[in-house]
Amino acid sequence: MKNFLSYLKPHRFLLIISFLFCFISVAFSLIIPIFIGKAIDEMIGPNQVDFANIYPILLWILIFLTLSAVFSYFYEWIAAKLTQSVVKKLRDDAFYHLEYSSVVFIDTHAHGDLVSRIVSDIEQISNGLLEGFKQLYKGVITILITLIFMFFVNYILAFVVILITPLSLFVASYISKRNHRFFTKQAKIQGEIGAYVLEMIENQKIVKGLTYENQAIAQFKQQNQELYQVGCDAQFSSSLTNPSTRFVNNLVYTAVGIIGMLLMLQNASFIPLLTIGGLSSFLTYANQYTKPFNEISGVVTELQTALSSLKRVQELLHVQKEVDDGNQMIHHPIETIHFDHIYFSYDPNRPLIHDFHFTVKKGQKIAIVGPTGCGKTTMINLLMRFYDVNHGGIFINNQNIIQIPKADLRKSFGMVLQDTWIFHGTVFENVAYGKTNATKEEVIEACKKVHAHSFISRLPKGYDTIISATSGLSTGEKQLLTIARMMLRQPEIIILDEATSNIDTRTEKKINDAFDQMMQGKTIFVIAHRLSTIQSADQILVMKDGNIIEKGTHQQLLKQNGFYKKLYLSQFEHQELI
Ligand SMILES: Nc1ncnc2c1ncn2[C@@H]1O[C@H](COP(=O)(O)OP(=O)(O)OP(=O)(O)O)[C@@H](O)[C@H]1O
Ligand SMILES: [Mg+2]
Repeated sequence: MKNFLSYLKPHRFLLIISFLFCFISVAFSLIIPIFIGKAIDEMIGPNQVDFANIYPILLWILIFLTLSAVFSYFYEWIAAKLTQSVVKKLRDDAFYHLEYSSVVFIDTHAHGDLVSRIVSDIEQISNGLLEGFKQLYKGVITILITLIFMFFVNYILAFVVILITPLSLFVASYISKRNHRFFTKQAKIQGEIGAYVLEMIENQKIVKGLTYENQAIAQFKQQNQELYQVGCDAQFSSSLTNPSTRFVNNLVYTAVGIIGMLLMLQNASFIPLLTIGGLSSFLTYANQYTKPFNEISGVVTELQTALSSLKRVQELLHVQKEVDDGNQMIHHPIETIHFDHIYFSYDPNRPLIHDFHFTVKKGQKIAIVGPTGCGKTTMINLLMRFYDVNHGGIFINNQNIIQIPKADLRKSFGMVLQDTWIFHGTVFENVAYGKTNATKEEVIEACKKVHAHSFISRLPKGYDTIISATSGLSTGEKQLLTIARMMLRQPEIIILDEATSNIDTRTEKKINDAFDQMMQGKTIFVIAHRLSTIQSADQILVMKDGNIIEKGTHQQLLKQNGFYKKLYLSQFEHQELI
């Protein structure tokens, strides 16, 4: 909460102004019943209407009404601006923390949950804040000013109203709690149904492939039935709000009317004089006095939801920025990368990398092969410092990478992973991502090199065609675009983690040739399951269970007659068959 107040602090001036405007607007509108009372007193019987006195009163009413409306207009405008500025900053900060959080944080949180913190939770806070301004702020001011005016008109009647206040509070809070319970449940089931539908849409081919449509429909119907039930309860419960509050209002109204009449008949000197006009103003106050209670209690539940959302967003804001205490820049060019007896595990109970020891020299093509789960991608994670080693160290030009600023380190690498990342945008934008100011010619050249140009030219608008992860591109085509994206950046060291696994072997070979040509003198790490890809590598590291078990060139490894040869033969035989 304290943190949140710091978001309001820069807007102190607007806050004070909005409070003032709200106060003036409410006070001006609440003063009107007093004038109406006075006007009534000027027309107490037939043919006794004193127009001369009534006109100025009407004029005052008009003036106050207009002023109240003007101030209310500006107040609403300020409230909206304030709320939106606060949530805008909150969203910016939350996204900033997310972008700079460590990969560990993102890997250990459900992604859908992180998205909903930035989108729906902040929306809840925005609603809470706006309602807080509109209803709470205004409600409290209205109650206070009404009380003041009531005391001004007649203090005995004012006490009567205050005595009935707990009843208004009780009814209002009971109703809002009940409504809140139903609405929370309704929102929860709606969320679940949304998630279910999304899952079914995203995986429709698998659902259809398993002919599981009927079961899916049955499960949906069950959830829908629950939503129906809670929807009915919520609607009914909220429809009771108005009659109940009207009932309390009427009680207050009647009590004020009866006691007011009795007071008018009294002649005791300690009782302030109550005219018909005075009683009528008072009845107006009594009539609207209980309204803000209902509004406020409605807001309280909204505020509770906003507060729990705020907690979730603040968790995000408290995420530590990725530790980045390196301050020694890399001395280019990178001559050596030395993995010095590395140990690492994601989970302390499941040892993964142990005693990985190897040196890579500038211009070498290093291939890493090995069974699924042996730790190939993990080595890349360590090199890029998405995770840090537990023991040992990685040295670039004899400089430990923990001393290098992460941005400087990562700038030197170009990575293409098995999971392609294509965002909603044109082909040009997708390829140019990562190199600001890339020209059209450069993009086309990169695409030609990776043999993506021909399929791009066949797209309806060529390089200007809008694409996205789910749009009609094949997985291999998406991989070609991500390779082109990396080519364009011309990084010093290239990492290909299963980057060509979905591309046909002929195109793959052509891309490899292109790599060999343009990347001369550059260091390349290639992780591949298809051994045909890596035969030209200077060194092939065969990994198993987090360690290097064999290393050498393709020919050397075949001669060794070990694990690599077995792997190679199994693929070779397979290829012979097809
Ligand atoms: N973020 C993570 N948190 C916890 N464990 C992980 C994480 N990433 C990978 N692992 C585990 O570490 C082991 C090595 O994973 P890694 O991704 O390095 O394998 P790989 O050799 O690249 O396999 P593949 O050939 O399938 O890509 C696996 O057992 C995997 O379950
Ligand atoms: Mg992998």
